[in-house]
Amino acid sequence: MAIYYDHNAGTITLTTRNTSYQMKADEIATLLHTYYGEKTDLSDMSYAVHMMNRGLSGNPYEKGQTDRAYSLDQLPQEMSCFGTGDYRASALKITNEDGTWAVRLKYAGHKVTKGKYSLPGLPASYCENESAETLTVTMKDEESGVTIDLLYGVFPDLDIITRAARIENNGPGAKYVNKAGSMNLDFVTGDFDLITFYGKWARERIPERTPVNHGKVSVGSVRGASSPHYNPSAILCGRNTTEDAGEAYGFAYVYSGDFLFEAEKDQINQTRVICSIHPDDFSWKLEPGEAFCTPEILMTYSNAGFSRISNNFHDFIRKHIVRGKWRDVRRPILINNWEGTYFNFNGDKLVAIAEDAAKLGIELFVMDDGWFGKRDDDNSGLGDWFPNEAKLGCTLKELGDRINGTGLKFGIWFEPETVSEDSDLYRAHPDWAMTIPGRKPDRSRNELILNMAREDVQDYIFDRMADVLRSAPISYVKWDYNRSICDKYIATLPADRQGEITHRFILGTYRVLEKLLTEFPDLLIEGCSSGGGRFDAGMLYYTPQIWCSDDTDPIERLYIQHGTSFIYPVNTMGAHVSASPNHQTRRTTSLATRAVTAMSGTFGYELDLNKLDDTEKEEVKREVRVFKELYETLEQGDYYRLTTPDSDTCTVWEQVSKDKKKAVVNAVYHYVRANHAPVYVRLKGLNDDMQYRARLVEGHGEQYLSRFFKHENTLFEEGRTFSGRTLATRGIFIPAPLSEYQAWQIVLEEI
Ligand code: GLA
Repeated sequence: MAIYYDHNAGTITLTTRNTSYQMKADEIATLLHTYYGEKTDLSDMSYAVHMMNRGLSGNPYEKGQTDRAYSLDQLPQEMSCFGTGDYRASALKITNEDGTWAVRLKYAGHKVTKGKYSLPGLPASYCENESAETLTVTMKDEESGVTIDLLYGVFPDLDIITRAARIENNGPGAKYVNKAGSMNLDFVTGDFDLITFYGKWARERIPERTPVNHGKVSVGSVRGASSPHYNPSAILCGRNTTEDAGEAYGFAYVYSGDFLFEAEKDQINQTRVICSIHPDDFSWKLEPGEAFCTPEILMTYSNAGFSRISNNFHDFIRKHIVRGKWRDVRRPILINNWEGTYFNFNGDKLVAIAEDAAKLGIELFVMDDGWFGKRDDDNSGLGDWFPNEAKLGCTLKELGDRINGTGLKFGIWFEPETVSEDSDLYRAHPDWAMTIPGRKPDRSRNELILNMAREDVQDYIFDRMADVLRSAPISYVKWDYNRSICDKYIATLPADRQGEITHRFILGTYRVLEKLLTEFPDLLIEGCSSGGGRFDAGMLYYTPQIWCSDDTDPIERLYIQHGTSFIYPVNTMGAHVSASPNHQTRRTTSLATRAVTAMSGTFGYELDLNKLDDTEKEEVKREVRVFKELYETLEQGDYYRLTTPDSDTCTVWEQVSKDKKKAVVNAVYHYVRANHAPVYVRLKGLNDDMQYRARLVEGHGEQYLSRFFKHENTLFEEGRTFSGRTLATRGIFIPAPLSEYQAWQIVLEEI
C-alpha cells in the first residue's frame, strides 16, 4: 500500500520507496500540506506547521474572535485559491456568476483506488498494472458550489507522485476558471534555488539557477505552446545542492500549451511552488454541471542531488509516459534529407541517399519538408498535404516502395497545425487560419496558424494525414510546428469563451495525434518545433522522440543535450550527425565527435551521404555498429553529468547499464590547449564490487594511445581491471585531446 489514511490523526500519507508526502484536513476542513521529502514514518507532521498572529494576515470567520493566529495567508495548503485570505501566489482563481472571485475550498472526503487515474483528452502518465495507486481528495466551496477533485498518482517504485485537478461547477450559474493550477506545493522553509531551462531557437533548455528570494521567481509561456524559450519543467533545490548531494524537487508538466511555474518566498520565509496553465492567456467557462481537468504534473524528490532527479524522471518518462511499440523496441537509426538537400530534391536523389545509407547500416529514410503541394521554399504550400508527383518523379507509394527496396523504412515530414497563405487550403478556407476579424495577422516564417481549436479543422488535418499514411508504406512521421500563436480568435465561440482558445488548440492537437495512433499504432512519430521547441512530457506521450534542436553542431549540442538531460531521457532526444563545417555555426568537427554527441540522443544522420568519400563512409559504418553495440547502455541506462559544458574544457557524461555491467564514458573537448592539463572525473553509478575492464572505442584514437600516451599502468593497460569502488573514488583521467574538439568514448565492461 502506498497511500495510508490515519483515522485518528486525519492524515493521508503517500509513500514511495524513498519519499513521503503528507496532507491533513484540520479542524475547520482546510487541507494542510504537512510534508514532502525524504521518506519518514507515518507520524502526523502537522506539528511543524507554524501559526502565529501576524498583522495583516486575516482569520477565517469560523475561527471566531479569539484565534488571530490561524490564517490561510500562512498555512501550507494542498490547493490554494485566490480571493479568500491567502495573499500568496494561488493555484486557482475562479470567477463566480456574480463577478466575485471568492472560493474557499474545504476538505469533503477522499478515496483511494488501485491503478493510475487518466485524464480525458489530455496526456497523462499510465501504469499497466495496479502497482500505482490513485488518491482522489474532494474539496468543496459550499457558497459557490465549486467542487474540486485533487488527483494524486503514486508510483512507489519510481519515487514519482503525479498531480492534477478536476474543477466542477455544481453551483447555479456559470463560472470562469481564470487560473487552473495542477500543483500547489508549500514548504514551511525557505532558502531554495529554482532551476529553470531557458533558451531560444537553436539554443534550447539551458539551465539557469535563481535564488528564490522574497517575491516570486517565475517562468512561463504565452506562445500557445511550450517553446524553446522556457521549458515546462523546473527543479527546486537547496542553495548548496549539487549533482550528487543535497535536496531537490523536480517538476515536469505533462502539457504542451501555455504554462506558468512560480516559486514564492513569503513573509515568514516559507516557499510555495505553483504550476498552472498560464493565466494571462486562459479563461474557461463552466456552465452548471460542467467540469474542467487541469493537465498533469510529475513530481519527484531527491536527497542526493540532481542526478537522482534526472534518473527518476528518465526511468519514468521512458516507461510511463512514452507508449506503444516504440517504448520497448530499439528505434531505427535514421537518415533525414533536410540538411542534405533542403528543398532541392527529387525522388531519384532521395533514393540515391537511401541506397548509400542502406550500405552503412542505417535503417530508416526520412523525407523532410518539400514533398507536397507547391513547396520549393518555406513561403508556400503548407496545408496542401498532397504529394508533388511532378517533383518526386513518381507517386508517394512508388517512392516508398523504392526506399523500402533499398532495405530502409520510409518516413515523412508534416507541419499539420500551420497553413501558408499561398496554398489551396487557405484559398478554400481562409477562415480556418487564426486571425482576428478586422486585423492583419502576424506572419511567422510566412505561416499562419490553423485554428486547431475547431473540430472541423482537426478532422480535416486527420483525414489528410491518414490518407497520405494509407497511400504509401510510411512507418515514421516527423510532426513539425514552426511558429508561436497570436491573433487568437475563434468564430465558433462567443466572446466570453475566447480565453479557451489556446487550451482548446492543444487539446485539438492531442486529439489528432491520438486518432492517428489509434489507426496506425506502430507509427513512430518524432515531435519537432523549429528544432526542440515543443519538448515536453505532454508531447512525449504521443511522440516518443523529439528533435532536440535545429543546431546540429556537436559542440553546441553539448550544451543543449546537457540541459535537456536534467529532465528528459537520452532516448527522447532527436540527435543527428550532420555535415562539417556545420550549417548553423560553420564549425569544423570530426565525424567521430559528431557521432559521440549524437549517440547520446536517438542517433541518426542528416547530410548528403553521396558527398562522403569512402573513408568517411567506412567511419559512418563503424559508428552505426558502435551505436548498435552500446545501444542498451546509452539509451536505457542511468545517466550522469560528470562535468558541465559551461565551466570545464571538456564535457564528460556517463551512461551505466541497468545491470551495472557496462558503462560508457563520453568526453568531448570544446576547448583545446597545447600541453593540455589532464581532465579528471570520478565515475558514478557503477557497482562497487564489480571488476571492470576499460577500452577506448575503436576509431576514437586507439592509435593515439600508443603514440602519445603512456600505456602501462593506466586505465587502458592490457588485462588490467578496476573495481567500481576504485573508479568512483580514485577516478580516471580523460585522455588529452589530439585535435580540436576531440571526442572519446571509454567503455567499461564487467569481467
Ligand atoms: C524546422 C525543423 C527542421 C526542418 C525544417 C523544414 O525548422 O526543425 O528540422 O524539418 O523545419 O522546414
